[in-house]
Amino acid sequence: MTDGYLWFEGIRFPVVGYSYEVLKEACAQFVIKDEDTVLVTYPKSGTHWLVEILCLIHSHGDTKWIRSVAIWDRSPWTETDDGYKLLNEREGPWLMSSHLPFHLFPKSLFTSKAKVIYIMRNPKDVLVSGYYHWIMTKVCKQPESLEQYFQWFMQGNVLYGSWFEHIRGWMSMRHRENVLLLSYEELQKDPRSTIERICQFLGKKLTPEELDSVLKNSSFQVMKQNKMSNFEMLPVDLFTGPFQITRKGICGDWKNHFTVAQAEAFDKVYQEKMLGFPKGLFPWE
Ligand code: A3P
Repeated sequence: MTDGYLWFEGIRFPVVGYSYEVLKEACAQFVIKDEDTVLVTYPKSGTHWLVEILCLIHSHGDTKWIRSVAIWDRSPWTETDDGYKLLNEREGPWLMSSHLPFHLFPKSLFTSKAKVIYIMRNPKDVLVSGYYHWIMTKVCKQPESLEQYFQWFMQGNVLYGSWFEHIRGWMSMRHRENVLLLSYEELQKDPRSTIERICQFLGKKLTPEELDSVLKNSSFQVMKQNKMSNFEMLPVDLFTGPFQITRKGICGDWKNHFTVAQAEAFDKVYQEKMLGFPKGLFPWE
């Protein structure tokens, strides 16, 4: 590490909690099983919200698990040192999370029947959310301003690489029957129906009361109070000040941050990079 990142296969990773050896082994050898559920996201797309929902669905709305076990142990990360160790400690089935770009993900996924959920979010909100996350954490190079982070993001010079490449890669899986494509925006607009869709995809039958509990206990306000899920459990020296993953939890925060020139520049790059996708696929368009 010389420039504030851990580099692996040309992609930037955090310098804390990750190592070249684990990334190499996880990407090349990790075996995903048919019974596993894999949640894939580009950072800041609503990963932890969805983990909370999936855990609550798994426990039929019972809150014991989400209140007693840290979120990263309930759904370990395939590519982090601790997550990879945990996943190898016992047989599954596992719920696991990953931010890996498509081309780096363990190839065993592509021949398994594991259920894959990919959640996407308006990239402008991803950018703003990422800026506030990385200025607070000491795990990678910190941007000096939103303008600087904007440039890094547009060039793909950020953790886990380019948003455009991440989404393009994973979109190629979207027609498979073991893949569910969700968006942060639909989860915000109609959480109940979206959670019902997730249950259907996972083959889980919940009673209306259980569904009510999933809805209530994964809400922004309740999650914000759950120290097992909101990052309060992490060592304070990883942060520059008090930090929670539950920051604002809204759609369209980019409008409070982008200048007109930035919004125009973003749209221009977006149109070039996202050419070829069908209309209506992305709810923010
Ligand atoms: P903001 O920074 O825009 O508030 P990730 O988990 O992928 O890092 O994504 C974090 C984003 O999801 C943050 O967005 C956070 O506030 C939002 N989020 C987390 N829990 C949420 C919840 N229960 N409801 C709505 N948004 C949530």
